[in-house]
Amino acid sequence: MKRPPFTPTIAALPKLVPFVGPETMARSRGRPFRARLGANESSFGPSPRAVEAMRAAADQNWKYSDPENYELRTAIAAFHNVAIEHVVVGEGIDGLLGLTCMLFLSPGEGAVTTEGAYPTFNFHVQAHGGRLLMVPMRELREDLPALRDAAAGTGARMLYVSNPNSPMGTHWDAAHLNAFIASLPDGVMLLLDEAYCDTAPPGTVPAIDAGNPQVIRYRTFSKAYGLAGARIGYAIAARDVIEAFDKVRNHYGINRVGQIGALAALQDQEYLRHAVGSIDAARNRISAIARDCGLVPLQSAASFVAIDCGGDGNFAKRVLDELLARDVFARKPVVSNLDRFIRVSCGVDADIDIFAAELPKALETARRG
Ligand SMILES: Cc1ncc(COP(=O)(O)O)c(C=O)c1O
Repeated sequence: MKRPPFTPTIAALPKLVPFVGPETMARSRGRPFRARLGANESSFGPSPRAVEAMRAAADQNWKYSDPENYELRTAIAAFHNVAIEHVVVGEGIDGLLGLTCMLFLSPGEGAVTTEGAYPTFNFHVQAHGGRLLMVPMRELREDLPALRDAAAGTGARMLYVSNPNSPMGTHWDAAHLNAFIASLPDGVMLLLDEAYCDTAPPGTVPAIDAGNPQVIRYRTFSKAYGLAGARIGYAIAARDVIEAFDKVRNHYGINRVGQIGALAALQDQEYLRHAVGSIDAARNRISAIARDCGLVPLQSAASFVAIDCGGDGNFAKRVLDELLARDVFARKPVVSNLDRFIRVSCGVDADIDIFAAELPKALETARRG
């Protein structure tokens, strides 16, 4: 018996475990974490109205979801003041990024991104046989002019920007982004990942121009809306781009309970404001805890704080390992110009209390080497 070969693209890829999740880590450690502050989820949770809607939907889960996501798309379209034909719903931004590669990237073609930026885009590019072109961050921000020049100079098909970005939480304001969008070279699609836009300061998010043929805006219910497990995201783009998503998307891929929960969450903007306030308070608290320990937190527009541990990458790794050993799940960037940071997600006070208690001990042990 002989199986067919993998496609050349897949055969050429190294064995890959993209994300080691906290569940995997807990299994290998033999015990759970006490504070889950590593995956940029929101432990403040979703709107109680969303919870109630999902509870009520549970026993109807024998039904497939509406493959057109009609009610959710209608609500999203109204929320952003665009026509429903400009909206596609997907399995989180992650799923939509993969579909976007299917639409625009043939094997061998280029996709520009920032070194150390959100890696899921990279996995999708590689799985589609694309060529990744990396631009380093500049002063801990995505370097918009250099990203544009890289796209222009290489004929790349796609350019990925997250604003605010992960893993640093830094951002550009709308004026800079609009100038950047206006300067895009022809033939490139800007994938603007706005996963963290809800927690960004006013003036960060450019007005949506759904007719712009070169921009796709990505949003998610995973972050401030507190529904990471529901796996619901959406994209807003020109009509022909949204129509093309219908050629490749998994029409029954959206889970029904998540679809209903996301709709209820969107309709409860008062709760969203409350959650954003809680995230902001946690951000301030994490920053204060870092400062109390002599570390330097970055000003963050996202739902996490990147903390400069004040040494090199090895030292930050030791700090992170000590936190993990003390049952605090956090993460750190790995690329060389960002690896002196650890990244701590905002969360409920009980979790931040544990972080506050454990960070000084983790640092002390890390400093002893
Ligand atoms: C920049 C960025 N984009 C997208 C995602 C994932 O979004 P989703 O849960 O909608 O797939 C994350 C999650 O950490 C992220 O940091």
